[in-house]
Amino acid sequence: MSGGAKLIDGKAIAAEIRTEIKHDVESMKRIVPGLATVLVGERTDSSTYVRMKIKACKECSMNSIHRSLPDTASEEEVLQAVEELNRDESVHGILVQLPLPSHINEERILSSVSIEKDVDGFHVVNIGKLAMKGRTPLFVPCTPRGCVELLKRSGVQIAGKEVVVIGRSNIVGLPVSMLLIHENATVTIAHSRTADLPGVVRRADIVIAAVGRSEMVKGDWVKPGCIIIDVGINSKPDSSKKSGYRLVGDVDFEECRKIASMITPVPGGVGPMTIAMLLRNCVDAAMRKEREVNE
Ligand SMILES: *[C@@H]1O[C@H](CO)[C@@H](O)[C@H](O)[C@H]1NC(C)=O
Repeated sequence: MSGGAKLIDGKAIAAEIRTEIKHDVESMKRIVPGLATVLVGERTDSSTYVRMKIKACKECSMNSIHRSLPDTASEEEVLQAVEELNRDESVHGILVQLPLPSHINEERILSSVSIEKDVDGFHVVNIGKLAMKGRTPLFVPCTPRGCVELLKRSGVQIAGKEVVVIGRSNIVGLPVSMLLIHENATVTIAHSRTADLPGVVRRADIVIAAVGRSEMVKGDWVKPGCIIIDVGINSKPDSSKKSGYRLVGDVDFEECRKIASMITPVPGGVGPMTIAMLLRNCVDAAMRKEREVNE
């Protein structure tokens, strides 16, 4: 038995990316990149994510602009807030924190974000371009981009590999599959209706787990030497913790680390990459703007 899988340290890789971003921001002459966040309602998790994003902007010498609306806000009011940010020249990226309250049409709001400021990459035009060959979206969704970046910066060759993506969400499963196809991987998308899921996962050189089910992928589901990217963040009851729970991924880490050659931990794997990629997208947008101004 080998000494177990090498850990892919998302925290360290995200810190490296943030240093690159800060450097880019400080080398810009005319523009300070600005990220706008829109929060509707007061969900604790959403408020925490927004706060983390604002703090990360500051650490990278970027501006942040925040709009908070009550959870009673109408769809028109949210649209109006987005429109104002679309017109604001100091804003290069707009992030509408999801989920939105149920009376608001998420698709309508996301499509109202200017495609030039769609740093989340969820606008149908950006997703549409991602889904086509030979088209270049202005932005790629952050968590999927983070997964690919983790692989590349860990020296993993993606082209020609068998990748199994577990999960078909709009936020991770579908876009990460598109990205990996562009990287010339052979991609299988598995989901709740997949017959013999363990058998399908066992074919993979690279597993991307994004289903949101605690420790679902077991050691005997994975091929020896495979590489595992665990996107899941689930809380599991744990009486030894003060909070009464701990975070686990979609992969049974203790079992799978004995079989895989590389694996991301949870927390500290994909999580830190999502914000780093959001900032990267926003600074890329500001750099595009600066080039336009210079022309
Ligand atoms: C993918 O394959 C195409 C066609 O062979 C090639 O032009 C492209 O450079 C490859 N891209 C990557 C990232 O390997």
